[in-house]
Amino acid sequence: MQLTRRPRRNRRTAAIREMVAENQLSVSDFIFPMFVMEGEGQKVEVKSMPGIYRFTLDELLIELQEVVDLGIRCICLFPNYPESKKDKYASESAMPETLYLKALSAIKANFPELLIMTDVAMDPYSSDGHDGIVEDGKILNDETVDILCKMSVAQAQAGADIIGPSDMMDGRIGAIREALDEAGFEEVSIMAYSAKYASAFYGPFRDALDSAPKFGDKKTYQMNPANVKEALLEAELDFQEGADMLMVKPAFSYLDVIKTLKDNFEIPVTAYNVSGEYAMIKATAANGWIDGEKAMMEMLLSMKRAGADVILTYFAKEAASLLAK
Ligand code: PBG
Repeated sequence: MQLTRRPRRNRRTAAIREMVAENQLSVSDFIFPMFVMEGEGQKVEVKSMPGIYRFTLDELLIELQEVVDLGIRCICLFPNYPESKKDKYASESAMPETLYLKALSAIKANFPELLIMTDVAMDPYSSDGHDGIVEDGKILNDETVDILCKMSVAQAQAGADIIGPSDMMDGRIGAIREALDEAGFEEVSIMAYSAKYASAFYGPFRDALDSAPKFGDKKTYQMNPANVKEALLEAELDFQEGADMLMVKPAFSYLDVIKTLKDNFEIPVTAYNVSGEYAMIKATAANGWIDGEKAMMEMLLSMKRAGADVILTYFAKEAASLLAK
């Protein structure tokens, strides 16, 4: 054949393929989500997330050395609380001596260079297992936002670098920004979970936290998976209210949403590669039905290609070790 264009020339060897690659993963893109629980000397694997553990604080600090040595520069911490600490108003979340805040300060003290992103939402502390205050089966918006503001300021005081409201209440970014500024935390960033969908892919995470809703679902506050224009509206509001970064969650079934936000906003877009996406790869790989490492790298790369600047992923450690090879 007489062909002027033979695209295969650019795929001939590994060197040429890598030279012309349009996108690349880098360990500095990753945020590693981690789980802390009460107690001492324990690490317990999350059943539905092989390789991911809930750590007591002392064990978490040991694990963090490994995380930092792999070149990971940001973690996102989530707490696991016993039912006895939960109530309707998530009161535990702003108690000065509470596990979560103590953990943030201890991490900051031991790893001052490591960025810490937090989780702002009521569910880990809520006896209803919801992200907001429940009354007569409804989630109250404005009353919840007051609690989220207190939680955010407490987390900033404890050393958080990036506040991550994952609750999907209306108006919370603006309110949190104001509360942080008033308390003197102008330098603390906000990563807005802007397009957070009501997804089945959060199942394993709720196992990790024992935080599944006690009744109903989260569809009156998390978004309908059918929508993408609504993601633009959510992102626009968060942008106007002062968000420093936007997030799309989950990531893998929502690559179009990542691309839409990337094309329409000038601030960084984060993809949350959620627990169910992690579990899917782990389970299929354990069955020998897929090459887990290759599938992981392909999944993460697809998020970069869609436009993600940052990726929250339970694969952070594994991917970091592969990238270092
Ligand atoms: C709740 C929260 C959830 C996740 C992060 N924060 C679950 C939910 O909304 O029910 C899910 C993360 C994951 O699945 O990896 N505020």
